[in-house]
Amino acid sequence: MSAVRFDVERARGETRGCSDLIHFNNAGASLMPVPVCDALHDYLNREELEGGYEVMEKQAAALENFYSAAARMLSCSEEEIAFVDSATRGWAMAFYAFNFQPGDRILTSSAEYGSNLVAMLHQARHRGVEIVFVPEDQHGQVDVAALQGLIDSRVKLIALTHVPSGGGLVNPAVAVGKVANSAGIPFLLDACQSLGQLPCDVNLLGCDILCGTGRKFLRGPRGTGLLYVRNTLCDKLEPPLLNHHAAILLSSDRYRVRSDARRFESWERNCAGQVALGIAIDYALSWGLGMIAERVKSLAASLRAELAGIAGVEVWDRGIEKCGIVTFSTEQLSAAETQEQLAARRINLSLVPFSANPRLCEQQHLPELVRASLHYYNTETELAVFLDELRNLLNS
Ligand SMILES: Cc1ncc(COP(=O)(O)O)c(C=O)c1O
Repeated sequence: MSAVRFDVERARGETRGCSDLIHFNNAGASLMPVPVCDALHDYLNREELEGGYEVMEKQAAALENFYSAAARMLSCSEEEIAFVDSATRGWAMAFYAFNFQPGDRILTSSAEYGSNLVAMLHQARHRGVEIVFVPEDQHGQVDVAALQGLIDSRVKLIALTHVPSGGGLVNPAVAVGKVANSAGIPFLLDACQSLGQLPCDVNLLGCDILCGTGRKFLRGPRGTGLLYVRNTLCDKLEPPLLNHHAAILLSSDRYRVRSDARRFESWERNCAGQVALGIAIDYALSWGLGMIAERVKSLAASLRAELAGIAGVEVWDRGIEKCGIVTFSTEQLSAAETQEQLAARRINLSLVPFSANPRLCEQQHLPELVRASLHYYNTETELAVFLDELRNLLNS
């Protein structure tokens, strides 16, 4: 097994959680690194001792750092960033801001995330929009030529999940962005599983809206997320929910919606989480997202190759470009048994739930899959330990 050169010793030294655990559940929630945990604990301690509003005032710069860090990561301006409590909330705040009319079409992929699909179905039921699933090509990724063929005046939105949570696939978001941009159709990208493991430049991706979560590959805290909305689109999207932070109350009978992406925010928030997410983004950028992507892809490719060589094991990941998520099933054990048995040996894996990509599960009659999602602090030694344990389990 080989992986690109990376100072993995330092990464592990800065990850307290990995000393006694093999954590292959980074697509669920990563282990937070020391600077992120310390900032989180420190902020909460100060809230305890000094008062929440008082700390918020004193920590204004650290809170603002979240916006500049996110803007650096995505190559956009700070005004285009909103802090949200989850990827789902960010996605929904932007999605529900579209004034869909009966007969409008949304083009999406069959690997769209469950909560996005629920929101689309909700708009189909209440607004009469039509959801059109773009077919996949022979590699399992969204078929860009088919997408191009579906463009017409009825299409009001293209919504794509960059990295679906149920496998290693990386959808060709750049090519999708080009189709969307040349047709002048807004492009909403769910980057929940790609932020922190792949470089995501909104200009290269051509997306107008992007959402992500803190806890996954960005290694931030739970209950944090971000939303990017391109400034040329922002003032055309009136958020479905407003408050006195998202809109300025001019008098008791008049308000003006903010012009920047913070119009999608709540006033109340997890301040400690916001500060820590800013630090998590800075931390990821200090490693370099290109370097992270190379290492994660290389580790995952090694794991897929090794798993494919074990009798009774099937690897399910599709796509030309594959990321750090590895999915498999075994003839010998159910996915739940595999996960449970390995958890007892302090190896964290997860299952792929139906809601990860419901349509794909239905179409392909996928069995329940085990998901091993790797990050850069995982090692070749950990892969070897996991593979040994799995072989023993399957042979016993
Ligand atoms: C692709 C994708 N989109 C969205 C989400 C939802 O993220 P959150 O739980 O932060 O709302 C997930 C979570 O697993 C995901 O994998």
